Amino acid sequence: MRFLAAAIAVTGVVHQAAAWGTVGHQTVAYLAFKFLSSDTTQYLENILTEEIGDAATWADSVRNSRPHTSSWHFLDAQDNPPQSCRVHYPDDCTDQGSDGCIVSAINNQTALFMSLDSSDQTREEALKFVMHFLGDIHQPLHVEGSYRGGNELHVCFVHACARNNLHSVWDKDIPHKIVGLHSSPKPAQEKDAAKRWADSLHSEAMKAAGGSVNIKAECSNVANPDSCSLQWAKEANAYVCQYVMKPGIDWLQSNDLSLEYYDGAKPIVEKLIGQAGLRLAGWLEAMVAGSQSAMVDDEQRFLGQWEL
Ligand SMILES: *[C@@H]1O[C@H](CO)[C@@H](O)[C@H](O)[C@H]1NC(C)=O
Repeated sequence: MRFLAAAIAVTGVVHQAAAWGTVGHQTVAYLAFKFLSSDTTQYLENILTEEIGDAATWADSVRNSRPHTSSWHFLDAQDNPPQSCRVHYPDDCTDQGSDGCIVSAINNQTALFMSLDSSDQTREEALKFVMHFLGDIHQPLHVEGSYRGGNELHVCFVHACARNNLHSVWDKDIPHKIVGLHSSPKPAQEKDAAKRWADSLHSEAMKAAGGSVNIKAECSNVANPDSCSLQWAKEANAYVCQYVMKPGIDWLQSNDLSLEYYDGAKPIVEKLIGQAGLRLAGWLEAMVAGSQSAMVDDEQRFLGQWEL
C-alpha cells in the first residue's frame, strides 16, 4: 500500500502529503533553538551546513531519492478511530516493513548522532532527521494507520475539495490558516511565518512558565529513545479519537473543515507544535551532552556519569 503510494507520488499523479508542511517543521526547529543553551546552539550550528529552517525540512526532500527513509516519517497504528485509538509497538512498526517507522528511526538517528564512529556527514544527517521526526511524531495523523493516516479521505477546506485530504489539512491547511498564509506561499513567506509563529509560541511558553522554561523537564532519555518517542506517539495518536476523526468519516467528508472544525483544531495544533519545539530542544541538549560524554568516556571512562 505504502509502496504504491510512493510510486504514485513519484509520477506526480496523486499529491502525496509529506509531513507537517514546511511551516510546521520550520516552526518546531526555530522554536527549539530559542530554548537551547548558547553552547548547544553553537555546537549544532557547527555541524549544520544549512540554515535551521532548511535543515528541518531536509528529510522530506530526500524521501523520493532514498525510498528506504519514507516509512521513517510515520507509524501506522492499527487501531479503529474514532472508537478506539492505540499504538502497539513494535508490531505496528514491523508491520510497515523492514525499514521501520518513526519510533525506530528516532532511535537509530539519535544513536548515530552520538556515536563516535559516525562520520561528519552521518551526524549532520542524523541531526536533520531528528529535527524532522520529532516534529512529525506530534502530528496525530502521522501516528495513525486508518485511511492511510487520513490520506485517503477526501475533504474540503475552504473550497479546495478536490485536491485536499484529511492528512494534508492537518499538515498544511490548518497551520497555514493559523499563521495567515495563503495556499501556495513562497519559501520566504513560509520562513517568515514560521519565525513569527515560533516567536509567539516561545513568548507564550515563557509567560506560562513564569519567565523561564525548564526544557530538562521534557522526556529526554537519549540512551533509551523509545521510552520517550512511544509516549509522544501515544499522545498524538490519542488525538485522532479525541478530535481528528471524532466527528466520523461521513461528517468529515461533507463539511467545510475550515469552519467549526478548524476552530477546534487550532488550539490542538498550537499545543502540539509548541510541545514538539520544547521536546526537540530537550532532546538536542541531551544528544549533545551524550556525544560529549561519549568522548570523555573514551578517555576517562567514569566521568560521563556525573553529567546526569
Ligand atoms: C539507520 O540509519 C542509517 C543511516 O541513515 C540507515 O542506513 C539505516 O537503514 C537505518 N537503520 C534503521 C533500522 O533504521
